[in-house]
Amino acid sequence: MENSGRSRRRFLKGLVLVGAWGLLVWRFLVPGDESQKKPLLTVKKSDIPPRGALVYRESRVAVFRREEEIYALSLVCTHLGCTVNVTPRNLVCPCHGSVFDREGAVLKGPSDKPLHRLEVEEQGDSLVVMV
Ligand code: FES
Repeated sequence: MENSGRSRRRFLKGLVLVGAWGLLVWRFLVPGDESQKKPLLTVKKSDIPPRGALVYRESRVAVFRREEEIYALSLVCTHLGCTVNVTPRNLVCPCHGSVFDREGAVLKGPSDKPLHRLEVEEQGDSLVVMV
């Protein structure tokens, strides 16, 4: 009788351990829902100059207006992650000299990937940049 109680406890302990390991493995192997983006910053549309940009260095984002189109670029260099500078003509990385056009395309390496475009949601007279 006592022996069967011990073996039941051992079985239940083992079951709890296997469950805990399963949850840990699930947590690290299955990515979270990346479709749920979070708002990074809100910009009034009227603040964005025509054919210009608003630069948010702390957030490492620039919001551009070109004709009727408004879009946001990540200022994280796709080479090694430095913050690129926005100039009147293009975007220049101070670390190794990559140059991007104002749509994020690579004009000069060493980076070989364009800057990331960030999702922008319209909310009335404002835009919300999502990450
Ligand atoms: S980190 Fe930008 S060019 Fe190297």
